[in-house]
Amino acid sequence: MSSNRTLMVLPGDGVGPEVVNETLRVVEWLAKNKSITFNVKEGLVGGASYDKYGTPLTDETLADTIEADAVLFGAVGGPKYDGVDFDKRPENGLLRLRKEMDLFANLRPAMVFPALVDASSLKPDIISGLDILILRELTGGIYFAEPRGIEEVSSKVKKGYDTNLYTTPEIERIGRVAFDLAKARNGKVTSVEKANVMMSGVLWREVMTNLHIKEGNGIDMHHMYADNCAMQLVRDPKQFDVIVTDNLFGDILSDCAAMLTGSLGMLPSASLGSVDKNTGKRFAMYEPVHGSAPDIAGKGLANPLAELLSLSMMLRYSFEMKDEADLIDKAVSLALEAGPRTPDIMAHGREKVGTKGMMDIILRKLEELTN
Ligand code: NAD
Ligand code: IPM
Ligand code: MN
Repeated sequence: MSSNRTLMVLPGDGVGPEVVNETLRVVEWLAKNKSITFNVKEGLVGGASYDKYGTPLTDETLADTIEADAVLFGAVGGPKYDGVDFDKRPENGLLRLRKEMDLFANLRPAMVFPALVDASSLKPDIISGLDILILRELTGGIYFAEPRGIEEVSSKVKKGYDTNLYTTPEIERIGRVAFDLAKARNGKVTSVEKANVMMSGVLWREVMTNLHIKEGNGIDMHHMYADNCAMQLVRDPKQFDVIVTDNLFGDILSDCAAMLTGSLGMLPSASLGSVDKNTGKRFAMYEPVHGSAPDIAGKGLANPLAELLSLSMMLRYSFEMKDEADLIDKAVSLALEAGPRTPDIMAHGREKVGTKGMMDIILRKLEELTN
Protein backbone atom coordinates (compact mmCIF):
# COMPACT_ATOMS: atom_id res chain seq x y z
CA MET A 1 0.00 0.00 0.00
CA SER A 2 1.48 3.39 -0.83
CA SER A 3 1.71 5.96 1.92
CA ASN A 4 3.16 9.36 2.60
CA ARG A 5 5.07 8.00 5.59
CA THR A 6 8.39 6.24 5.05
CA LEU A 7 9.66 3.74 7.56
CA MET A 8 13.26 2.59 7.27
CA VAL A 9 13.78 -0.82 8.78
CA LEU A 10 17.28 -1.91 9.82
CA PRO A 11 17.09 -5.42 11.33
CA GLY A 12 20.85 -5.95 11.79
CA ASP A 13 22.27 -9.09 13.35
CA GLY A 14 21.50 -11.97 15.69
CA VAL A 15 18.05 -11.69 17.21
CA GLY A 16 17.61 -8.28 15.52
CA PRO A 17 15.96 -9.69 12.36
CA GLU A 18 13.94 -12.16 14.46
CA VAL A 19 12.30 -9.48 16.62
CA VAL A 20 11.99 -6.97 13.76
CA ASN A 21 10.24 -9.46 11.46
CA GLU A 22 7.70 -10.30 14.14
CA THR A 23 7.15 -6.61 14.89
CA LEU A 24 6.51 -5.94 11.20
CA ARG A 25 3.45 -8.20 11.52
CA VAL A 26 1.97 -5.48 13.73
CA VAL A 27 2.87 -2.86 11.11
CA GLU A 28 0.89 -4.98 8.63
CA TRP A 29 -1.94 -5.32 11.11
CA LEU A 30 -2.12 -1.52 11.44
CA ALA A 31 -2.36 -1.17 7.67
CA LYS A 32 -5.12 -3.75 7.38
CA ASN A 33 -7.17 -2.81 10.41
CA LYS A 34 -6.45 0.85 11.06
CA SER A 35 -5.57 2.07 7.56
CA ILE A 36 -2.24 3.28 8.93
CA THR A 37 0.24 2.63 6.18
CA PHE A 38 3.96 3.08 5.78
CA ASN A 39 6.26 2.78 2.82
CA VAL A 40 8.57 0.26 4.37
CA LYS A 41 12.13 0.21 3.12
CA GLU A 42 14.67 -2.25 4.47
CA GLY A 43 18.46 -1.97 4.68
CA LEU A 44 21.48 -3.79 6.00
CA VAL A 45 23.38 -2.59 9.05
CA GLY A 46 26.05 -3.98 11.34
CA GLY A 47 27.54 -7.36 10.64
CA ALA A 48 24.95 -8.06 7.93
CA SER A 49 26.19 -5.01 6.03
CA TYR A 50 29.84 -5.81 6.74
CA ASP A 51 29.41 -9.34 5.33
CA LYS A 52 27.99 -7.98 2.08
CA TYR A 53 29.77 -4.64 1.63
CA GLY A 54 32.77 -4.69 3.97
CA THR A 55 31.36 -1.82 6.03
CA PRO A 56 28.74 -1.77 8.84
CA LEU A 57 26.82 1.05 7.14
CA THR A 58 26.98 2.06 3.49
CA ASP A 59 26.51 5.67 2.39
CA GLU A 60 23.45 4.52 0.39
CA THR A 61 21.79 2.99 3.45
CA LEU A 62 22.63 6.08 5.48
CA ALA A 63 21.06 8.27 2.77
CA ASP A 64 17.89 6.13 2.74
CA THR A 65 17.76 6.33 6.51
CA ILE A 66 18.12 10.11 6.54
CA GLU A 67 15.30 10.35 3.96
CA ALA A 68 12.88 8.29 6.07
CA ASP A 69 10.34 9.69 8.51
CA ALA A 70 11.35 7.18 11.16
CA VAL A 71 13.73 4.26 11.60
CA LEU A 72 13.02 0.92 13.24
CA PHE A 73 16.29 -0.66 14.32
CA GLY A 74 16.93 -4.24 15.50
CA ALA A 75 20.34 -4.97 16.98
CA VAL A 76 23.93 -5.31 15.76
CA GLY A 77 27.05 -7.21 16.69
CA GLY A 78 28.18 -10.65 17.61
CA PRO A 79 31.27 -12.75 18.35
CA LYS A 80 31.76 -13.45 14.63
CA TYR A 81 33.07 -9.89 14.28
CA ASP A 82 35.46 -9.90 17.25
CA GLY A 83 38.53 -9.82 15.03
CA VAL A 84 37.28 -7.15 12.63
CA ASP A 85 39.07 -3.75 12.48
CA PHE A 86 37.61 -1.49 15.16
CA ASP A 87 36.08 1.08 12.79
CA LYS A 88 34.46 -1.66 10.70
CA ARG A 89 32.81 -3.43 13.62
CA PRO A 90 29.01 -3.78 13.54
CA GLU A 91 28.52 -1.43 16.51
CA ASN A 92 30.09 1.36 14.45
CA GLY A 93 27.17 1.24 12.02
CA LEU A 94 24.83 2.08 14.88
CA LEU A 95 27.11 4.76 16.30
CA ARG A 96 27.43 6.40 12.89
CA LEU A 97 23.64 6.46 12.45
CA ARG A 98 23.22 8.13 15.84
CA LYS A 99 25.94 10.70 15.08
CA GLU A 100 24.99 11.51 11.49
CA MET A 101 21.35 12.09 12.43
CA ASP A 102 22.37 13.87 15.65
CA LEU A 103 20.09 11.64 17.73
CA PHE A 104 21.25 13.16 21.00
CA ALA A 105 18.27 12.25 23.19
CA ASN A 106 17.76 8.58 23.97
CA LEU A 107 14.60 7.88 25.95
CA ARG A 108 14.73 4.55 27.77
CA PRO A 109 11.55 4.03 29.78
CA ALA A 110 11.57 1.27 32.38
CA MET A 111 8.02 0.31 33.25
CA VAL A 112 6.93 -2.73 35.16
CA PHE A 113 3.87 -4.40 33.66
CA PRO A 114 1.73 -5.68 36.56
CA ALA A 115 1.88 -9.25 35.23
CA LEU A 116 5.69 -9.18 35.25
CA VAL A 117 6.18 -8.17 38.86
CA ASP A 118 7.27 -11.73 39.59
CA ALA A 119 9.64 -11.88 36.61
CA SER A 120 11.99 -9.32 38.15
CA SER A 121 14.85 -10.50 40.33
CA LEU A 122 13.80 -7.84 42.85
CA LYS A 123 11.10 -8.13 45.50
CA PRO A 124 7.58 -7.26 44.28
CA ASP A 125 7.07 -4.27 46.61
CA ILE A 126 10.29 -2.66 45.34
CA ILE A 127 9.25 -2.69 41.70
CA SER A 128 5.47 -2.98 41.38
CA GLY A 129 4.02 0.09 39.67
CA LEU A 130 7.49 1.29 38.63
CA ASP A 131 7.53 3.84 35.80
CA ILE A 132 10.81 5.67 35.34
CA LEU A 133 12.57 7.16 32.34
CA ILE A 134 16.29 7.13 31.75
CA LEU A 135 17.28 9.92 29.40
CA ARG A 136 20.67 9.07 27.97
CA GLU A 137 22.79 11.62 26.08
CA LEU A 138 23.59 9.70 22.89
CA THR A 139 25.93 11.62 20.60
CA GLY A 140 28.67 12.91 22.88
CA GLY A 141 30.94 11.93 25.72
CA ILE A 142 33.38 9.08 25.77
CA TYR A 143 31.68 7.32 22.82
CA PHE A 144 32.84 9.96 20.37
CA ALA A 145 35.33 12.42 21.87
CA GLU A 146 38.96 12.64 20.73
CA PRO A 147 41.69 11.82 21.50
CA ARG A 148 41.22 8.09 21.74
CA GLY A 149 43.49 5.31 20.72
CA ILE A 150 45.99 2.62 21.52
CA GLU A 151 49.67 3.57 21.31
CA GLU A 152 52.95 1.91 22.01
CA VAL A 153 54.82 3.40 24.95
CA SER A 154 57.73 0.97 24.76
CA SER A 155 58.34 -2.44 23.21
CA LYS A 156 56.45 -4.09 26.07
CA VAL A 157 53.94 -1.43 27.05
CA LYS A 158 51.00 0.07 25.22
CA LYS A 159 48.48 2.62 26.39
CA GLY A 160 44.78 2.69 25.53
CA TYR A 161 42.78 5.82 26.19
CA ASP A 162 39.44 7.53 25.61
CA THR A 163 38.22 11.03 26.34
CA ASN A 164 35.03 12.01 28.09
CA LEU A 165 34.12 15.46 26.84
CA TYR A 166 30.93 17.51 27.09
CA THR A 167 30.31 21.14 26.17
CA THR A 168 27.82 23.55 27.73
CA PRO A 169 25.37 23.40 24.77
CA GLU A 170 25.46 19.59 24.70
CA ILE A 171 24.53 19.42 28.39
CA GLU A 172 21.94 22.17 28.09
CA ARG A 173 20.07 20.56 25.22
CA ILE A 174 19.75 17.18 26.94
CA GLY A 175 18.88 18.95 30.20
CA ARG A 176 16.04 20.79 28.45
CA VAL A 177 14.66 17.52 27.13
CA ALA A 178 14.78 16.13 30.67
CA PHE A 179 12.80 19.11 32.00
CA ASP A 180 10.22 18.83 29.19
CA LEU A 181 9.76 15.10 29.78
CA ALA A 182 9.50 15.55 33.54
CA LYS A 183 6.85 18.27 33.14
CA ALA A 184 4.62 15.72 31.40
CA ARG A 185 5.35 13.16 34.13
CA ASN A 186 5.95 13.67 37.87
CA GLY A 187 8.15 16.74 37.63
CA LYS A 188 11.29 15.20 39.12
CA VAL A 189 14.70 15.09 37.43
CA THR A 190 17.77 13.34 38.82
CA SER A 191 20.92 14.46 37.03
CA VAL A 192 23.60 11.78 37.23
CA GLU A 193 27.38 12.16 36.80
CA LYS A 194 30.58 11.73 38.77
CA ALA A 195 31.40 15.33 39.61
CA ASN A 196 33.47 14.00 42.51
CA VAL A 197 36.14 12.60 40.17
CA MET A 198 35.54 13.75 36.57
CA MET A 199 35.94 17.25 35.14
CA SER A 200 33.22 16.52 32.58
CA GLY A 201 31.06 15.66 35.59
CA VAL A 202 31.90 18.96 37.33
CA LEU A 203 30.79 20.85 34.21
CA TRP A 204 27.69 18.65 33.83
CA ARG A 205 26.56 19.50 37.39
CA GLU A 206 27.34 23.21 36.95
CA VAL A 207 25.41 23.47 33.67
CA MET A 208 22.42 21.50 34.99
CA THR A 209 22.32 23.68 38.12
CA ASN A 210 22.32 26.89 36.05
CA LEU A 211 19.77 25.51 33.58
CA HIS A 212 17.50 24.58 36.45
CA ILE A 213 17.67 28.14 37.82
CA LYS A 214 16.93 29.63 34.37
CA GLU A 215 14.48 27.15 32.86
CA GLY A 216 13.54 24.57 35.45
CA ASN A 217 10.54 26.31 36.92
CA GLY A 218 8.46 23.72 38.77
CA ILE A 219 11.03 20.97 38.32
CA ASP A 220 12.28 19.21 41.41
CA MET A 221 15.92 18.58 40.47
CA HIS A 222 18.47 16.48 42.31
CA HIS A 223 22.09 15.57 41.59
CA MET A 224 23.43 12.08 42.16
CA TYR A 225 26.74 10.33 41.58
CA ALA A 226 26.49 7.53 39.04
CA ASP A 227 27.75 4.81 41.36
CA ASN A 228 25.16 5.74 43.97
CA CYS A 229 22.51 5.84 41.22
CA ALA A 230 23.31 2.23 40.24
CA MET A 231 22.82 1.23 43.88
CA GLN A 232 19.65 3.32 44.33
CA LEU A 233 18.13 1.78 41.16
CA VAL A 234 18.09 -1.64 42.80
CA ARG A 235 17.46 -0.38 46.36
CA ASP A 236 14.50 1.91 45.75
CA PRO A 237 13.88 2.59 42.03
CA LYS A 238 10.55 4.29 42.64
CA GLN A 239 12.36 7.34 44.07
CA PHE A 240 13.16 8.28 40.44
CA ASP A 241 11.05 9.90 37.73
CA VAL A 242 13.43 11.10 34.99
CA ILE A 243 17.14 10.28 35.23
CA VAL A 244 19.28 12.36 32.88
CA THR A 245 22.84 11.26 32.33
CA ASP A 246 25.72 11.01 29.90
CA ASN A 247 26.27 8.48 27.14
CA LEU A 248 28.27 5.88 29.07
CA PHE A 249 26.44 6.07 32.41
CA GLY A 250 23.13 5.97 30.50
CA ASP A 251 24.18 2.80 28.71
CA ILE A 252 25.07 1.03 31.92
CA LEU A 253 22.22 2.29 34.09
CA SER A 254 19.59 1.39 31.49
CA ASP A 255 20.70 -2.24 31.29
CA CYS A 256 20.47 -2.29 35.08
CA ALA A 257 16.98 -0.75 34.93
CA ALA A 258 15.95 -3.42 32.42
CA MET A 259 16.16 -6.07 35.09
CA LEU A 260 13.72 -4.11 37.25
CA THR A 261 11.15 -4.71 34.52
CA GLY A 262 11.85 -8.43 34.31
CA SER A 263 14.07 -8.69 31.24
CA LEU A 264 16.27 -6.79 28.84
CA GLY A 265 13.86 -8.17 26.25
CA MET A 266 11.21 -5.75 27.56
CA LEU A 267 13.02 -2.40 27.27
CA PRO A 268 12.31 -0.17 24.24
CA SER A 269 13.94 3.14 23.38
CA ALA A 270 13.56 6.20 21.21
CA SER A 271 16.58 8.09 19.90
CA LEU A 272 15.53 11.60 18.93
CA GLY A 273 17.15 14.58 17.27
CA SER A 274 15.95 18.15 17.57
CA VAL A 275 13.15 19.53 15.43
CA ASP A 276 14.47 21.23 12.28
CA LYS A 277 13.30 24.86 12.37
CA ASN A 278 12.81 25.03 8.61
CA THR A 279 11.25 21.69 7.77
CA GLY A 280 9.66 20.77 11.12
CA LYS A 281 11.21 17.34 10.72
CA ARG A 282 12.85 15.48 13.57
CA PHE A 283 15.15 12.53 12.97
CA ALA A 284 14.15 9.56 15.06
CA MET A 285 15.28 5.99 15.44
CA TYR A 286 13.52 3.41 17.58
CA GLU A 287 15.75 0.70 18.97
CA PRO A 288 15.37 -1.86 21.75
CA VAL A 289 17.91 -1.49 24.53
CA HIS A 290 19.09 -5.08 24.12
CA GLY A 291 21.72 -6.33 21.71
CA SER A 292 21.95 -9.17 19.23
CA ALA A 293 21.81 -11.80 22.04
CA PRO A 294 24.25 -14.26 20.40
CA ASP A 295 23.50 -16.91 23.05
CA ILE A 296 19.91 -17.30 21.83
CA ALA A 297 20.15 -16.04 18.23
CA GLY A 298 18.79 -18.31 15.52
CA LYS A 299 16.68 -20.27 17.98
CA GLY A 300 13.47 -18.24 17.69
CA LEU A 301 13.46 -17.68 21.46
CA ALA A 302 14.03 -13.92 21.73
CA ASN A 303 11.41 -11.79 23.40
CA PRO A 304 10.02 -9.49 20.67
CA LEU A 305 8.32 -7.07 23.09
CA ALA A 306 11.19 -4.55 23.42
CA GLU A 307 11.09 -4.19 19.62
CA LEU A 308 7.29 -3.99 19.56
CA LEU A 309 7.28 -1.39 22.34
CA SER A 310 9.87 0.56 20.31
CA LEU A 311 7.35 0.57 17.44
CA SER A 312 4.77 1.89 19.88
CA MET A 313 7.19 4.68 20.88
CA MET A 314 7.59 5.44 17.17
CA LEU A 315 3.83 5.87 16.71
CA ARG A 316 3.76 8.11 19.80
CA TYR A 317 6.79 10.33 19.15
CA SER A 318 7.17 10.45 15.36
CA PHE A 319 3.57 10.23 14.16
CA GLU A 320 1.46 11.52 17.05
CA MET A 321 -0.62 8.33 16.95
CA LYS A 322 -1.29 8.18 20.66
CA ASP A 323 -4.36 5.93 20.37
CA GLU A 324 -2.55 3.30 18.35
CA ALA A 325 0.50 3.42 20.65
CA ASP A 326 -1.81 2.98 23.65
CA LEU A 327 -3.49 0.08 21.85
CA ILE A 328 -0.17 -1.73 21.38
CA ASP A 329 0.87 -1.09 24.98
CA LYS A 330 -2.48 -2.45 26.15
CA ALA A 331 -2.12 -5.55 23.97
CA VAL A 332 1.30 -6.19 25.54
CA SER A 333 -0.15 -5.78 29.01
CA LEU A 334 -3.02 -8.19 28.31
CA ALA A 335 -0.79 -10.71 26.56
CA LEU A 336 1.43 -10.87 29.64
CA GLU A 337 -1.49 -11.29 32.00
CA ALA A 338 -2.49 -14.71 30.78
CA GLY A 339 -0.96 -17.28 28.54
CA PRO A 340 2.45 -18.37 27.40
CA ARG A 341 5.69 -16.43 27.64
CA THR A 342 9.18 -16.33 26.17
CA PRO A 343 11.89 -17.96 28.34
CA ASP A 344 13.37 -14.67 29.63
CA ILE A 345 10.12 -13.76 31.44
CA MET A 346 8.96 -17.29 32.15
CA ALA A 347 6.88 -17.86 35.26
CA HIS A 348 5.86 -20.99 37.10
CA GLY A 349 2.94 -22.79 35.44
CA ARG A 350 3.13 -20.84 32.17
CA GLU A 351 3.56 -22.46 28.80
CA LYS A 352 6.76 -21.48 26.97
CA VAL A 353 6.61 -19.83 23.54
CA GLY A 354 9.16 -18.39 21.16
CA THR A 355 9.36 -15.07 19.32
CA LYS A 356 6.62 -15.94 16.84
CA GLY A 357 4.34 -17.49 19.44
CA MET A 358 4.56 -14.35 21.58
CA MET A 359 3.60 -12.17 18.62
CA ASP A 360 0.71 -14.52 17.75
CA ILE A 361 -0.70 -13.70 21.19
CA ILE A 362 -0.17 -9.96 20.70
CA LEU A 363 -2.03 -10.07 17.37
CA ARG A 364 -4.88 -11.97 19.02
CA LYS A 365 -5.08 -9.34 21.76
CA LEU A 366 -5.09 -6.55 19.16
CA GLU A 367 -8.05 -8.27 17.48
CA GLU A 368 -9.87 -8.66 20.78
CA LEU A 369 -9.28 -5.03 21.75
CA THR A 370 -10.62 -3.69 18.47
CA ASN A 371 -13.60 -5.99 17.89
P1 NAD B 1 22.75 -8.53 24.68
O1 NAD B 1 21.79 -7.45 25.03
O2 NAD B 1 22.79 -8.95 23.28
O3 NAD B 1 22.43 -9.80 25.60
C1 NAD B 1 22.55 -9.80 27.02
C2 NAD B 1 21.70 -10.95 27.60
O4 NAD B 1 20.32 -10.60 27.47
C3 NAD B 1 21.87 -12.26 26.88
O5 NAD B 1 21.80 -13.32 27.80
C4 NAD B 1 20.68 -12.33 25.95
O6 NAD B 1 20.25 -13.62 25.62
C5 NAD B 1 19.62 -11.57 26.73
N1 NAD B 1 18.67 -10.91 25.81
C6 NAD B 1 18.93 -9.81 25.06
N2 NAD B 1 17.87 -9.51 24.30
C7 NAD B 1 16.93 -10.43 24.58
C8 NAD B 1 15.60 -10.67 24.10
N3 NAD B 1 15.02 -9.87 23.19
N4 NAD B 1 14.91 -11.72 24.61
C9 NAD B 1 15.47 -12.52 25.53
N5 NAD B 1 16.71 -12.35 26.01
C10 NAD B 1 17.43 -11.32 25.54
O7 NAD B 1 24.19 -8.03 25.18
P2 NAD B 1 25.65 -8.69 24.96
O8 NAD B 1 25.55 -10.16 25.00
O9 NAD B 1 26.52 -7.97 25.89
O10 NAD B 1 26.04 -8.22 23.49
C11 NAD B 1 25.92 -9.03 22.33
C12 NAD B 1 26.21 -8.20 21.09
O11 NAD B 1 25.21 -7.22 20.92
C13 NAD B 1 27.54 -7.42 21.19
O12 NAD B 1 28.13 -7.44 19.92
C14 NAD B 1 27.11 -6.02 21.55
O13 NAD B 1 28.00 -5.03 21.12
C15 NAD B 1 25.79 -5.93 20.81
N6 NAD B 1 24.83 -4.96 21.36
C16 NAD B 1 24.10 -4.28 20.43
C17 NAD B 1 23.12 -3.42 20.83
C18 NAD B 1 22.32 -2.71 19.78
O14 NAD B 1 22.41 -3.06 18.63
N7 NAD B 1 21.53 -1.73 20.15
C19 NAD B 1 22.86 -3.24 22.20
C20 NAD B 1 23.61 -3.97 23.12
C21 NAD B 1 24.60 -4.84 22.69
C1 IPM C 1 23.13 0.19 23.38
C2 IPM C 1 24.34 -0.61 22.95
C3 IPM C 1 25.27 0.25 22.12
C4 IPM C 1 25.82 1.34 23.02
C5 IPM C 1 26.43 -0.45 21.39
C6 IPM C 1 25.99 -1.64 20.63
C7 IPM C 1 27.16 0.52 20.51
O1 IPM C 1 24.97 -1.18 24.05
O2 IPM C 1 22.44 0.74 22.52
O3 IPM C 1 22.83 0.22 24.58
O4 IPM C 1 26.78 1.11 23.78
O5 IPM C 1 25.30 2.45 22.95
MN1 MN D 1 23.87 -0.96 25.93
